[in-house]
Amino acid sequence: MPLTRREMLRVTAGAGALTALGLRPRELATSAPLRGSPLLERAIPSSGEKIPVVGIGTARRYDVAAPAELDALREVLAAFGRLGGKLVDTAPSYGRAEVVVGELVREIGNRESLFLATKVRTEGRQAGIDQMEESFRRLHTERIDLMQVHNLVDVERQLSTLREWKAAGRVRYLGVTTSFHRQFEAFEAVMRAEELDFIQVNYSLGDRVAGERILPLAADRGMAVLVNLPYARGRLFQAVGDRPLPAWAVEFDCESWGQFFLKFILGHPAVTCVIPGTAKMGYLLDNVGAARRRLPDAEQRRRMVDFFESLPGA
Ligand SMILES: NC(=O)c1ccc[n+]([C@@H]2O[C@H](COP(=O)([O-])OP(=O)(O)OC[C@H]3O[C@@H](n4cnc5c(N)ncnc54)[C@H](OP(=O)(O)O)[C@@H]3O)[C@@H](O)[C@H]2O)c1
Repeated sequence: MPLTRREMLRVTAGAGALTALGLRPRELATSAPLRGSPLLERAIPSSGEKIPVVGIGTARRYDVAAPAELDALREVLAAFGRLGGKLVDTAPSYGRAEVVVGELVREIGNRESLFLATKVRTEGRQAGIDQMEESFRRLHTERIDLMQVHNLVDVERQLSTLREWKAAGRVRYLGVTTSFHRQFEAFEAVMRAEELDFIQVNYSLGDRVAGERILPLAADRGMAVLVNLPYARGRLFQAVGDRPLPAWAVEFDCESWGQFFLKFILGHPAVTCVIPGTAKMGYLLDNVGAARRRLPDAEQRRRMVDFFESLPGA
């Protein structure tokens, strides 16, 4: 479904942000996200269900209460659905973010077209149940698409509840998350010991450790992979500064630095979906654009690494 006139006006109003992204205002009408080529999708190994490869992360930027900020996020979430996006990742530990996602999705009325992922992060069986029940209430839903044990906190106990809830149809998929290298060993042990539908891990052009060990293990174990911190919380943009994109980025249909960073991640065959923190319309269009057309192959990805490593600030 095309963007509404109101959304287009907001995009146009955000032209300054798009210019900063490397998109000129006059390119808006023809830029890749608006052109309507289909979003790339990947299958969740445990079910075969396909999801678009770019989602939305909600840490920090969705922890808001002011009406103007809520209005902006409502437009982003509505446009995300219209563009064909599905996966929204949140957590009870992101301040008001989970509440905000639940309220806005209810107001927009697009719950059924989205894939809602949240987390549990607490010690003890009953505390886990209480926190997850609260997530159902906050998200205004009877079924959560993906429930993840956040940063491995009390992982075995929370997973045992989640297995029961998955069997009862309350959660569709279960998984575990981390964003810390120091947890990778324990994370791998959990991946080997447990049957998981999803893992979520930090991986980016500037932080490639998971690509060597976690992502291949996920492929071996038949686990879907969500990638968090794809922009290293924005630090990757600082590393490239105001440099132009290398000319060879057109070989994989890359129109901005954001797409360069996301397409690097999506070029890894074990990755199912990347979840950049996305709270602005300009960023949404840019990020969703990374889910269109060609991705870099192994050789092109090596070139991207060499390029990034050669930057003074990298
Ligand atoms: N352990 C875990 O489970 C865990 C840990 C960390 C993160 N996560 C999940 O992963 C998601 C992503 O991580 P993150 O949000 O912390 O960091 P991130 O995605 O690496 O970076 C987000 C930042 O990049 C900027 N940005 C987004 N799109 C852009 C674009 N197209 N061009 C230029 N700048 C852009 C935004 O800047 P502005 O500040 O201007 O909006 C935002 O602050 C989180 O939101 C959360 O859902 C999970």
